[in-house]
Amino acid sequence: MASPAPITQQEPKHPQRPSLWAPTAGGTTVTMKDILDAIQSPGSTAADIAALPLPESYRAITVHKDETEMFTGRETRDKDPRESLHLDEVPLPELGPGEALVAVMASSVNYNSVWTSIFEPLPTFGFLERYGRVSELTGRHDLPYHIIGSDLSGVVLRTGPGVNAWRPGDEVVAHCLSVELESSDGHNDTMLDPEQRIWGFETNFGGLAEIALVKSNQLMPKPGHLSWEEAAAPGLVNSTAYRQLVSRNGAQMKQGDNVLIWGASGGLGSYATQFALAGGATPICVVSSPRKAEICRRMGAELIIDRSAEGYRFWRDEHTQDTREWKRFGKRIRELTGGEDVDIVFEHPGRETFGASVYVTRKGGTIVTCASTSGYDHQYDNRYLWMSLKRIIGSHFANYREAWEANRLVAKGRIHPTLSKVYSLEDTGQAAHDVHRNVHQGKVGVLCLAPEEGLGVRDTELRARHAEAINRFRNI
Ligand SMILES: NC(=O)c1ccc[n+]([C@@H]2O[C@H](COP(=O)([O-])OP(=O)(O)OC[C@H]3O[C@@H](n4cnc5c(N)ncnc54)[C@H](OP(=O)(O)O)[C@@H]3O)[C@@H](O)[C@H]2O)c1
Repeated sequence: MASPAPITQQEPKHPQRPSLWAPTAGGTTVTMKDILDAIQSPGSTAADIAALPLPESYRAITVHKDETEMFTGRETRDKDPRESLHLDEVPLPELGPGEALVAVMASSVNYNSVWTSIFEPLPTFGFLERYGRVSELTGRHDLPYHIIGSDLSGVVLRTGPGVNAWRPGDEVVAHCLSVELESSDGHNDTMLDPEQRIWGFETNFGGLAEIALVKSNQLMPKPGHLSWEEAAAPGLVNSTAYRQLVSRNGAQMKQGDNVLIWGASGGLGSYATQFALAGGATPICVVSSPRKAEICRRMGAELIIDRSAEGYRFWRDEHTQDTREWKRFGKRIRELTGGEDVDIVFEHPGRETFGASVYVTRKGGTIVTCASTSGYDHQYDNRYLWMSLKRIIGSHFANYREAWEANRLVAKGRIHPTLSKVYSLEDTGQAAHDVHRNVHQGKVGVLCLAPEEGLGVRDTELRARHAEAINRFRNI
């Protein structure tokens, strides 16, 4: 296997768009602009896209292995993605069996890009090294740079041997589950594959780039009524919320359930709120500002708790929780629900809220967790769990089927993207900074090859029917 060429040395932080003239084996040359023109040309056929030569390199957002110590001594809050995320020219990876190269029109920022960019809880290069040891082919991922990003919308450029379901020219989104499936363990639920990884976080060649390398079983049809950046926004969080709340692998939410949703206007929460509403449940949305409360109202939620305005302090000090605050929170929930407790808590803040989440769940109810943003060392009073027969369920991303169902609901106009702001690829550091500092709403998008917002809409009729819902996170 050819060893990758070194990445381009960076001079200015965000250099001008470099020239991408790259000779191909046939002596012809191709630029990313040629690829973009072919994608955007109404007359382009699948054969035209398939016949396009590929460039030798492309632009991508990376972290560098020799910089993982750059924030040593700083508080988490002060670790700044704008310093660690680079826009580099990187060589095109070799295409393997079962894989696809996708021209990325747009991507989005997920919290995992924040974790990667601040090197917490661990630098992601350990994941790449471990993946690189699996096989000769996966060795491609173990590089001194990590191309991040776990969402994309775009167009298939090439497929590897053994790919029959997808062709060059297909307009797609990609979910972020990467599996090997050589063990029997993953064959009931692919999330249980021992070699399960999150693409663009635990693997290289992610979506915050002009080209991405994915496995073909990550691909799903792009919802036709959405623009490139809208289509790229739901992927990771929508699929995660679907498994966590709706799927039989998660809380199996049913009609009439009261669902407490932390961060209800954020990445995960904005989809959990929509699933609750669409499934006949009642979301109780927790947010931290009137603006975020207004977003929840726009989605159709009526029961909203502004945790900042109401000043909950579940921890008296670093080691001691304040059970009176749990009770105050539970009382507030009952005020809103007319005396009922919650059937399901949609958990992800972790340490700061978990004790309260276990407390406020009704007898026999479920706390379903997929993260620990405020700390993974949780404490709760177990008497409230076992005596009241509650269950805690761990949930992580989604299998292909769950991701497909979640995407299908978007494609039907039942669940909508929650895109609030869109950045250029050059400004990905700022986009990740916004998410890190919790000053964003819903999802933050990134244009990769798409030259402007609003392109890529194919189904104008379905779009017109849902225009208000698609845009409700904008300009708020
Ligand atoms: N396991 C998985 O598959 C998976 C998938 C996606 C995400 N995640 C993880 O889930 C977490 C959230 O992701 P996201 O995309 O939803 O992030 P996000 O867009 O930042 O939204 C999270 C929201 O949670 C609320 N929040 C944050 N800290 C809080 C605290 N200490 N107490 C109460 N509420 C708090 C905030 O809302 P307010 O300020 O309005 O309350 C924030 O906007 C991250 O840690 C991410 O890595 C895991």
